[in-house]
Amino acid sequence: MKRNRATLPTFVHSLWMRIISAPAAVKLVGLAVLPVATIIISAWLYAEIFIFRLLAASPDITLNAHTLFDLSWRAFLWLGLGALIGIGASVTLTWVLIRQLGGLVKTMERIEAGDLTARSPVWSQDEIGQVQAAFNTMVNGLQQSRDDLMKNQRELESLDAENQRLIGELRDKETELRFALRRAVDVQEEERKRIARELHDEIGQALTSILIRLKSLQNITNLDVMTDRLDGIRYLASQTIEEMRRLSMDLRPAALDNLGILPALRWHIGQSMEQNQIEIQFTAPERMERLPPEVEIVLYRVAQEGLNNAIRHSQAKHIEVKLEHTPRFVWLSVSDDGQGFDADGLHRGLGLVGIRERVTLLKGQCGIESQRGSGARLWVEIPLTEANPAHA
Ligand SMILES: Nc1ncnc2c1ncn2[C@@H]1O[C@H](COP(=O)(O)OP(=O)(O)OP(=O)(O)O)[C@@H](O)[C@H]1O
Ligand SMILES: [Mg+2]
Repeated sequence: MKRNRATLPTFVHSLWMRIISAPAAVKLVGLAVLPVATIIISAWLYAEIFIFRLLAASPDITLNAHTLFDLSWRAFLWLGLGALIGIGASVTLTWVLIRQLGGLVKTMERIEAGDLTARSPVWSQDEIGQVQAAFNTMVNGLQQSRDDLMKNQRELESLDAENQRLIGELRDKETELRFALRRAVDVQEEERKRIARELHDEIGQALTSILIRLKSLQNITNLDVMTDRLDGIRYLASQTIEEMRRLSMDLRPAALDNLGILPALRWHIGQSMEQNQIEIQFTAPERMERLPPEVEIVLYRVAQEGLNNAIRHSQAKHIEVKLEHTPRFVWLSVSDDGQGFDADGLHRGLGLVGIRERVTLLKGQCGIESQRGSGARLWVEIPLTEANPAHA
């Protein structure tokens, strides 16, 4: 009994699997043939069981009303049963076919609506199942292409955004450059005016005064007076020489070329303290090897600009200039304890722009750290690599 119970569902299941996996053509033929076949079989069985046996048992049987009723009732039952089995089989086959096709149609509708994740469920390997599998493969390809396309589009969009950013940066640089060029011309003109004024007002006046005093010596016969006047003239001449030296040092400090960055900076800081009555602390190594000339001049100009800015704009009480270096890098910073400024804002000066340009040319970096009310710090870092090798 146990065995029978286990066998029946197995048999039904395997029959069902056979029906599902049967080729579509077989299903369609079954659809047409099964009702007719079951009716014929049930008619044959009916004839076999009742009529032939009846005739065989009593060949001289006479059909009375009762026998006829009995036979026709059985015929109705048997044929009806056969027809029911046949129709049931057809309905099952139709349901199987419609379900497969229906799944395919539903999937197509979802894909038409743009849902490329839809796949047709394949539960038979018949022709319709193969069409479904091929359709799913096609949709896989379509989805992959759409994903690739979207990825490319996203990449294009980010490239476009990057392009826009670069174009913006280029425009800013162009404006900065135009502005810097205009300022450079202005600064050059101002510098010429300053030198001309200093030459005229200071050195020219002093030389004229020396000339007049020399002329006045012509009429002096007293030796003491002569000596006295000559002392005055000598003092004036030495003052003029000092003034000329200051002017020429301002333009290009000879100490920088002759002695290097440390003495040049010490001299410049000393001058700045004397002229501006401000405390400037200089922190640097005791001794330093000579750096490449292009590095030394940039460090000098950075210190000059940082000090000028701190003195002119910050109202600081204390300024610190710091110089440090390793075999690979040199750093210079100018810090003040003044009023500070918005370092991220747009500044219409040439000094800081010029510093950035000079430092960039040496493949270095620079920055300003400042906030309103908390001082400012200008720093540069210059590599002493092959691009800017140190002097041997
Ligand atoms: N240490 C500082 N403290 C306060 N403000 C500063 C300081 N350094 C720079 N600034 C501000 O930044 C601006 C830009 O400085 P930058 O050196 O570029 O130009 P500038 O000094 O005004 O003119 P230039 O240097 O061309 O003569 C200054 O005008 C000033 O407002
Ligand atoms: Mg400046």
